[in-house]
Formats: sequence, structure tokens, C-alpha cells
Amino acid sequence: MENDFITLGIETSCDETAVAVIRGRYNAASSVVASQHDIHGRYGGIVPELACRRHVEIIAPAVDDALAKADIIMDNINLVSVTRGPGLVGALLVGLSYAKALAWAKAIPLVGVNHLGGHVMAAFVTKPDIPLPSISLLVSGGHTELFLVTAPGEFERLGGTRDDAAGEAFDKVAKLLGLGYPGGPQIEKIAEGQEACYPLPVAMSSSKNLDFSFSGPKTAVKRLFNDLKATGDFSTGEIAASFQKSIIDALELKTRLAIERYSPKSVSVVGGVACNGPLRKRIEKLGAAMGVCVVIPEPALCSDNAVMIAAAGASLYLDNPDDPAWRSFNNLDADPSWMP
Ligand code: KG4
Ligand code: ZN
Repeated sequence: MENDFITLGIETSCDETAVAVIRGRYNAASSVVASQHDIHGRYGGIVPELACRRHVEIIAPAVDDALAKADIIMDNINLVSVTRGPGLVGALLVGLSYAKALAWAKAIPLVGVNHLGGHVMAAFVTKPDIPLPSISLLVSGGHTELFLVTAPGEFERLGGTRDDAAGEAFDKVAKLLGLGYPGGPQIEKIAEGQEACYPLPVAMSSSKNLDFSFSGPKTAVKRLFNDLKATGDFSTGEIAASFQKSIIDALELKTRLAIERYSPKSVSVVGGVACNGPLRKRIEKLGAAMGVCVVIPEPALCSDNAVMIAAAGASLYLDNPDDPAWRSFNNLDADPSWMP
């Protein structure tokens, strides 16, 4: 019975120490996410050395916490699934080393999974019978990608950002406007109810490919902000609303193009930026207008978490349990720039 199969997921690719326990392929029994926003907030971005140190401090208690919340002990775990890349190399190594030690000590298999594959898998955790093929829009702090998903864990990249990721642009503009880190939620908050009255460029709107570019809108906001500051007459909320709209316009435009081109049965939005309310609404509307099922995971499954990592590993393992790779993980290394 697959549902008796228990996987421990570990995620330390960036600034969240996350551990989860799942049953079967998708059922979360516990999910622990220890965020480091308190440490990095004052620098306006992630400081890799500090991230690694905090992962080292937190990883053991986070594993204990996830096991306790799932009401099981380590001896009940059948598989360890850990993020192997992409991400900060030192941060990845903390999770990977811990996962290897656990799997080795308990003589159980280990799967090293791709972080982006994990985000894509969040849509299956939300709706295991998501209609396929599916277009997955992955929008996070490090990535903005469009994938065509044909099965759990099987997907092809259709396009992506050529420079800044959407979340990165949110974070940089928030810093410019004097808001806190991470910037996305702050921008969404102050933009609420404000008019997007400043015209900002919609990135790569005339190109027919499925790529994005967000450094243009970011630079345009910078120029606008400096000009407006000189006049002394401006509203930060309206600037934030205008910027947010230009990003969402670009994301919607390319998602629409991908749907027209590939005629998928569903579309999902995953990654931290998928927590953004106006973006969620816009893609829901787009799907309804185009007759495509829309799956957007709850916010806790959009931002970095280990449920998606456990699910990605469980799927790989359960589809091919006899693969010797799951048992010979001694030389498994972190891959900071691993594109799926
Ligand atoms: O997926 P994630 O947690 O980590 C990465 O893999 O990067 O994404 C983090 C990103 C940050 O850039 C953050 O500003 C953005 O997601 N984000 C948002 C919102 N919540 C988080 N962006 C826009 N609106 C939000 N509500
Ligand atoms: Zn992520």
C-alpha cells in the first residue's frame, strides 16, 4: 500500500529551513518551515554565510519537530528526500549532508531532488488528479519559468526569465521604496486599493517567445521614483501598484501565449510570488476565460516548504523503487545551478 510509505523531506536551498513528513505520494503529515527573515531583513536580501549558519543550528530541531508533529519516529521513515539544487551551495550542503547522514544511519534510500521540480510538484499535492498536460508558471525569488508538465516529475521548459526573477524584482523595488524584506508581500500590502496610475513597461510584451525580462520594469520604477521624489508629490502605494500591475501583466501575457500554443488541460502557478493575491485572481480569470482548469496551491505550499520536496522524491522513488541510485548516495553532491 503506497499510503503506508513515509517520506521525510528536507529543504535548505535558500533562507528557509524546512522539513516535512508525507504519507504516500502527496499526503502531508507535518510541515515545519523555519524562516530566516529576521536575520536577512536588515540587509534587504539574503546573506549566504548567515543562511548556512542558521541552517546548521536549526536543521536537527526542525527534523525532530516534523517527526513529532507527524507523531512518528525516525524508524518509521522509509525514504529521505532532499533538495540537491539549484540554490546557495553552502545552504544546500547543510540539508544534503544531514539527509545523507540520516539515510545512512537508518539504512534507508535517499533521493536528491530539484528545487524547481519540487515547486512544480506543489500543484499535484494540491490536486493529485490535476488534468494533464498542464502549464506550470513558476514564480519565485530565484526563478520565473514556464513548464509544460506531462506527468508528476516530468516537464519541459518552455521559457523563462532572461535576467531578474519576478520575486527578485519585487524584492529590489521594495528595497528602493524603503519597504522591508521579503519585498513581495510588502508591495502587495501597500499597493492594495491603490491606483496603478503610472505607466510602466510590460516586459517583452511584443516578443512571441515565452521568455520574461524584469530588469526593465525595475529600472523604470527606479527612474520614476527618482523623478517623483524631486517633485515631492507622489504616493508610494501608487508606485507599488503600478509596478505590481506591470509584473502581473507580463506573467499573464506569457501564460496566455503558452496556453494558446500548447492547449493544456490545466494551468498552475507555484513559487513564492504565487502567494500574491492579484496574480492569483488574474490567472484564475484567465483560466476561466480560456476554459482551462486552474490550480494554485495554498500560500504555504507556494513559498519554500519541504512537503513539495518530499512529494517530488516519493514520486521518483515509487515509480522506480529498484533503481540502485537511491542506495548509493555517498557521492551525491549539491548542484547550485541545476536546471531540470
Ligand atoms: O519560492 P520562494 O519562497 O523562494 C525561492 O525559491 O525563491 O519565493 C520567495 C519570493 C520572494 O522574492 C518574495 O518577495 C516573493 O517570493 N513573494 C511575493 C509574495 N510573497 C512572497 N511576491 C509577490 N507577492 C507576494 N505576496
Ligand atoms: Zn523556491
